[in-house]
Amino acid sequence: MAALPLNYILLIVISITILCILFISFFLLLIIRRPKCTKHAGSGDRNQISNSQIVCYRQDVSCIYEGKKKGGQVFTYKELELATDGFSERNVIGNGGFGVVFRGTLGDGTVAAIKVLHGDGKQEERAFRMEVDLLNRLTSSYLVELLGYCADQHHRLLVFEFMPNGNLQQHLHPSSCNHYYEPLNWSTRLRIALDCARGLEFLHEHTVPSVIHRDFKCSNILLDHNFRAKVSDFGMAKTGSDKVNGQVVTRVLGTSGYVAPEYALTGRLTTKSDVYSYGIVLLELLTGRVPVDTLRPPGEQVLVSWALPRLTNRDKVVEMVDPALEGQYSRKELIQVAAIAAVCVQSEAEYRPLITDVVQSLIPLVKSPSGSTPSRLHHQIAISVS
Ligand SMILES: *[C@@H]1O[C@H](CO)[C@@H](O)[C@H](O)[C@H]1NC(C)=O
Repeated sequence: MAALPLNYILLIVISITILCILFISFFLLLIIRRPKCTKHAGSGDRNQISNSQIVCYRQDVSCIYEGKKKGGQVFTYKELELATDGFSERNVIGNGGFGVVFRGTLGDGTVAAIKVLHGDGKQEERAFRMEVDLLNRLTSSYLVELLGYCADQHHRLLVFEFMPNGNLQQHLHPSSCNHYYEPLNWSTRLRIALDCARGLEFLHEHTVPSVIHRDFKCSNILLDHNFRAKVSDFGMAKTGSDKVNGQVVTRVLGTSGYVAPEYALTGRLTTKSDVYSYGIVLLELLTGRVPVDTLRPPGEQVLVSWALPRLTNRDKVVEMVDPALEGQYSRKELIQVAAIAAVCVQSEAEYRPLITDVVQSLIPLVKSPSGSTPSRLHHQIAISVS
């Protein structure tokens, strides 16, 4: 066999070396780009915002959408169009500041609530990212679950678990265009109060850094088939990471009637602003009135100003109870709930309780749904886990 010329052999060796280098750099590139995304998807502590995740979020937007966890299901616009019958008017179940919510049936038969975001591009994008980012990281039975999303071209849609009993607003303040519901009874109202306090407690106390909901109100409290409540709508939420002295200074957003006075006046935002909004919801549960009602006589139009002097008066508080309850409530429990509402809606933020204190005060008032021991036991275990 004749030996190959030396320069021919050299040429082959050089080509192979170059190819090898190219391959290795390609793989290195893949490895370097990957871990930041996969790390948080698999990390055990879902409540913790890791630095890598924030870096990842800012550097590469598509990165956060890669999660394989719950909520990571990606839908095409076509799929969701099909699920909602072409976004048919008949399937509209809600209409909020950030978009319209449709009831839809997904390809696998799951009934879901599909929220189509609208607004100017920037606001819509922020709300979309906040919901996907938060709900992918946070898991609590007191928050509405995100099943997936769609970021097809300019469309931004969120797919949530379907809550068959609608929102608290529809039950407390039925309007002619609403679906008609029976008035909620006293024990159901107390359980709803506790459930959504736990939702806020999860955001404020069990999440690092803490999350301020910023738009806590009746229409953002959803009810499942057993009237268990879950908190929804995180499009306006603020994470405490950009805190200065424990508070965030921000542009005032929120719904009138629910916004805490110090936040409305100065933009100073703390978890105590959510506690104020929570107090307003408690007042609605007690009285059946809306936060601001211009049809009522002067002095009764703003719920909080009308209610505050009555809340701590044992005789007056009875007069303000929602007539829809038809007297079916415990007077002792009423006085306790009224006292909780009174401290929550104080104008001085420092004197408002932590939401954890509210949870602790409500627990003894809420009976397990069936009253039987096994379900109560189950309830307590579920709480200690979350
Ligand atoms: C209150 O309403 C719930 C839900 O409709 C029902 O399951 C429960 O039995 C009612 N409780 C009372 C005391 O009427």
